[in-house]
Amino acid sequence: MKIFVAGGAGYIGSACTEYLIDNGHEVTVFDSLETGHRDAVDKRAEFIEGNLADKDLVVKSMVEGKFEAIMHFAAYSLVGESMTDPGKYFRNNVASGINLLDAAVEAKVRTIVFSSTCATYGEPEIIPITESEKQCPINPYGESKLAFEKILKWYHEVYGLEYAALRYFNASGASKNFGEDHSPETHLIPIVLQVAQGKREHIMMFGDDYDTPDGTCIRDYIHILDLAQAHMLALNAPRSGHYNLGTGKGLSVKEIIDVAREVTGHPIPAQIAPRRDGDPPRLIGCADLAKKELGWKPQYENANDIIQSAWDWSQKYPNGYEN
Ligand code: UFG
Repeated sequence: MKIFVAGGAGYIGSACTEYLIDNGHEVTVFDSLETGHRDAVDKRAEFIEGNLADKDLVVKSMVEGKFEAIMHFAAYSLVGESMTDPGKYFRNNVASGINLLDAAVEAKVRTIVFSSTCATYGEPEIIPITESEKQCPINPYGESKLAFEKILKWYHEVYGLEYAALRYFNASGASKNFGEDHSPETHLIPIVLQVAQGKREHIMMFGDDYDTPDGTCIRDYIHILDLAQAHMLALNAPRSGHYNLGTGKGLSVKEIIDVAREVTGHPIPAQIAPRRDGDPPRLIGCADLAKKELGWKPQYENANDIIQSAWDWSQKYPNGYEN
């Protein structure tokens, strides 16, 4: 298929672009490079530098490219930042995203795969979380993604645009060529690995007084290549809808640090710091629906393999995309 990948220079979009091309698809990446990197765009992809806020450019690119499908990764995605600058999140993740949908309608694109998130669930009552759990986000980031899910539903009802909203749990790991390089970095695994690389003295653990067995927050870490596989399968989803993408297993902040110590052989000093605003204590996903309806078969079963892949990438590219 001919696929328009918005945000294909970012962490997950870059690995997904590579995966799609490896599997015979033709990809055009559209990215503002505000948080993405030009070197993270697979050399086999076409590239358009642009911002989704620029509706004329989005529509023109979409109409000229005659795409059959869209993948939409382009969004701000930091929970903590969204608590201090909510408008930034609603403007980009909601308002600019609507330009993409209008362009899809104008260019008669059949389907869109959207990067949603488990942050739309807020503090779930039942773990592991299924798609029918109520969605009550506790931060503007999650709220912006939930708003876009609802908008997608109406574009489906009104214009017949098919969609799959994929609710990722914690994206992690790396492919051989593409990995995680944010500036500033805020995510747990890359920061832990920066300590092992000697770039930081220690890792700060945000809160050790949560209602979890060791007091630190629990997350479900899912490999980006498993996310990429799900995106490709979602192109042929049997219906429009929502799918969780997680492993069904949770690891605490302390457990992740322990695995990273094992993988890297570095002691990785850790300190307790205050809780970070907007952090739910426990997020673990049930992905049975994606397995059943999309035929999704995640390949990365344990955190050692995920962290090993991220470690291999950071050893190969010690300065990320800077070189
Ligand atoms: N954490 C630390 N120290 C750090 C960084 C993170 O203790 O230096 C903790 C966080 O408080 C949290 C856990 O590690 O408990 C994971 O934090 P991340 O920042 O790596 O990931 P988040 O869970 O906050 O957010 C990520 C994505 C979101 C997505 C969310 C779903 O950034 O896009 O997962 O859980 F929605």
